[in-house]
Amino acid sequence: MKAGRLLTPFISPAKGIVDVPGSKSFTNRALICAGLADGTSVIENFLMADDTEAMIAALEDLGVLVIADENGGSLQVTGLSGPPAISDISINARLSGTTSRFIVPAVAVGRGKFTISGEAPLMRRPFHDQIVALRSLGANISELGEAGCLPLKVDANGLEGGTIHVSGEKSSQFASGILMAAPLMKNGLTLHLEGAVVSRPYIELTLDVMRRFGAEISNPADGTYVVSPTGYQPAEYYVEPDASAASYMFAAAAITGGTVRVNGLSRSSKQGDIKFVDVLEDIGATVHSGDTFLEVSGGPLSGGKFDLKDFSDTAQTLAAVAAFASAPIEIEGIGFIKAKETDRIEAMATELERCGVSVNRSQNGMVINPNQWALRSAQVETYDDHRMAMSMSLLSLRVSGIEILDPECVDKTFPKFFEVLESLRDNNDFFSGTTPVIAIDGPAGAGKSTIAKLLAEHLGVPHFDTGAMYRAVTLACLDAGLDVENVQAVALLAKKIEIRVGSRVQIDGVDVSERIRGIEVGQNVSAVAANSLVRTILVERQRRWAIESGGGVMEGRDIGTAVFPDAALKIFLTATVDVRAKRRFDEKSDQSLEQVKKEILSRDETDSSRQDSPLRIAANAVIVDTSNSTIGRTVELLGMLFRSEVIQ
Ligand code: DC
Repeated sequence: MKAGRLLTPFISPAKGIVDVPGSKSFTNRALICAGLADGTSVIENFLMADDTEAMIAALEDLGVLVIADENGGSLQVTGLSGPPAISDISINARLSGTTSRFIVPAVAVGRGKFTISGEAPLMRRPFHDQIVALRSLGANISELGEAGCLPLKVDANGLEGGTIHVSGEKSSQFASGILMAAPLMKNGLTLHLEGAVVSRPYIELTLDVMRRFGAEISNPADGTYVVSPTGYQPAEYYVEPDASAASYMFAAAAITGGTVRVNGLSRSSKQGDIKFVDVLEDIGATVHSGDTFLEVSGGPLSGGKFDLKDFSDTAQTLAAVAAFASAPIEIEGIGFIKAKETDRIEAMATELERCGVSVNRSQNGMVINPNQWALRSAQVETYDDHRMAMSMSLLSLRVSGIEILDPECVDKTFPKFFEVLESLRDNNDFFSGTTPVIAIDGPAGAGKSTIAKLLAEHLGVPHFDTGAMYRAVTLACLDAGLDVENVQAVALLAKKIEIRVGSRVQIDGVDVSERIRGIEVGQNVSAVAANSLVRTILVERQRRWAIESGGGVMEGRDIGTAVFPDAALKIFLTATVDVRAKRRFDEKSDQSLEQVKKEILSRDETDSSRQDSPLRIAANAVIVDTSNSTIGRTVELLGMLFRSEVIQ
């Protein structure tokens, strides 16, 4: 069995100020430029992760000296003072797309024989466009394996440079790699980008880093870049925090309605992924940009249609956020992410579906159709893709039982991801400022009564069954021969009678515990529960009841939304319709399973569509799916959430 990491939902909005690792894109570009520069550069706030380690190892193979300072804050890179010159070596780019696509042009401008390979998933990724472009400049490249893929052998003898046309349709990494090698071509290079360029901001970012290391580039026309044969000068370079890594923290704020600040970023960053916050703003979050920080506060999230072509690394983050929006979110312009670490559209759609989210895939993107009622606990596959692990982890903020398989894949770009996410947990003292009530809401058959009762016992606090109150009023009406549709009269009766709900239920001192569970009460209680006047009377009593008892576990349909919206812990207990129907069927056998299922669906509809206090998932409620859990395990989980314990 694969090792997984079971994540604990947040019971309060995410809150905090965090540092995220330096940008992978900047780090690997700065490493290449520094590695080819004439002297020693210092790179600060670099990202130390799988992809950058792959780049450092590749540069060291080429003779670049890389020394990390004691606390790992900066790197000293002593460059080759020109193109690499070596007799015959093999370089393993591991799983790193940027390393392979930046190193191949860098060795092509050098002298010697270079074999570039990688781990199996990298060898499957396309290389064709770069091979064609480099060959057109005179590079001698052989494909040792499958055509258009790694491993490649470069028999290098320097490049003269000149003019080339590079397709920008599949990956901007090809163009970036060739541009970075261009200052070392004898005559420099004029590069024309052709077709719709995916991720254009990455090209801007490449040019920005190159200029910082002394390159001279002009841009006489859109998509045309002229690079002079200047070589590179050493520089002191500060790597900006990674905007894609920051997207997960901003998403946490959006999903939980919290506030999260990431240091060192601003809206004017050259990183394309910074645009992710614009999307969050469009769907309802608030963004505050300082000079040295960017902060997102969540709000109710709406739907929308967004083209993520220029910031596709955040497409999975947005897809995860979409699971909590109030309307569908359509992501387009990202067909090319099918050829990333994995087919990211297919992988994300599959894993969201596993968690109960409906997704329509297309060649160019996907549409996420949120329905929080359908959210389920699940074991989530990560496909060796760090972004799958990080984005799917976001579901766990609101949904219990999300287990991320192979969580170590986050090491690729964000080794401390889980710690940083965890630091946003607001470990509120339960009893300060909020009502010490655990609110348990959910549809019929989710297990509310049993679980609420056991949880109250487990914690040694009172249990409040609010449904019994509505049932008691209904019984009193029936006994008095009142029409339950007579709004005014029913409310008057509700006001007059004294209802006691404890281990037994009494009306005016008479025990009615069994009678309120009768068929006739069951058939009429919905009408009574839909009576706004009755609700006003009973909700007031429920509040007083809990406050006078010093808090406890209260179950119903509107506890987290109307009775105690500031409850210390809000739970939305749910299960699939099939499981709920089976449970009810096992309790009473006078109906067929199909009939029971139909009745449950119609009750879901009545409970959630009535005018007054419909059954809704409260803001910040933790969604707990009991479909595959035992009662004991659910009670234990809720106890842990109550005690603010994190699943280890
Ligand atoms: O949980 P139960 O089946 O005993 O609830 C009886 C009815 O009362 C059911 O139709 C939903 C309604 N109810 C409600 O509207 N609000 C509550 N807080 C509790 C129950």
